[in-house]
Amino acid sequence: METHVCRSILLLLIFIYFLYILGKLLNVPTKEQNDHEREKIPVELFVMSRCPDAVACEEVMADVVKEVNDISTFKTNYIATLNSSATYGATCKHGDLECNGNIQELCFQEVNSNQLTFFNYLMCIHRSFDRIGSHEWAKQCSEEVGQDYDPIDKCVNSDTGLNLFIKSVQKSKANQANVSCTIFIDGHKRCIRDGGDWYDCPDGNSDKDFVKSIKNAYKK
Ligand SMILES: *[C@@H]1O[C@H](CO)[C@@H](O)[C@H](O)[C@H]1NC(C)=O
Ligand SMILES: *[C@@H]1O[C@H](CO)[C@@H](O)[C@H](O)[C@H]1NC(C)=O
Repeated sequence: METHVCRSILLLLIFIYFLYILGKLLNVPTKEQNDHEREKIPVELFVMSRCPDAVACEEVMADVVKEVNDISTFKTNYIATLNSSATYGATCKHGDLECNGNIQELCFQEVNSNQLTFFNYLMCIHRSFDRIGSHEWAKQCSEEVGQDYDPIDKCVNSDTGLNLFIKSVQKSKANQANVSCTIFIDGHKRCIRDGGDWYDCPDGNSDKDFVKSIKNAYKK
């Protein structure tokens, strides 16, 4: 009788161990991992690469991202008018050079997912406004922030870059973001910078105000 019970317990333990190993093999995520992924706050900037308001907006956001890097995901989307007869499949307000600049920035984010590095790249790009969108300047800034330009160039000059751009323009349209720069935090329009002014920013437009909004959204 006693050996019978012992054997049952042993079999039960083996069974539990088996389930544990199976779980590991199937990589069933723990609750903690799930929550962590879900809670990162999306921050989206709807911009045009050769727009002075986008430059001003990204300068502020470069300070914000440093404060909230681990709890948020920053992404830029581009405003343009879809147009099948245009070179890039869309017409950019500041010309084809701007379309090219938009694609360079999208490809940078595609190749390098470190958002701090991406903002360092943008800060470099902004140092010479006239050269935004040019191949040489994108390459120089990319190398300055430690990112080899070859994979980005490959993306820019292929369907990968073009598709990223078109998807991005569609996303701006879907969000009714038609002013560069429009800032969305956690899926909601948060603030606009246009014509040198900030507006529609009820919770403020300083770096500290944006940090606060992101931290509040994270705690929710
Ligand atoms: C579409 O692209 C063509 C070629 O670049 C241009 O001439 C035309 O004005 C564009 N249309 C719009 C609505 O932007
Ligand atoms: C921009 O989008 C807003 C809605 O978000 C709309 O009310 C406005 O008319 C649009 N402006 C232009 C110029 O399309």
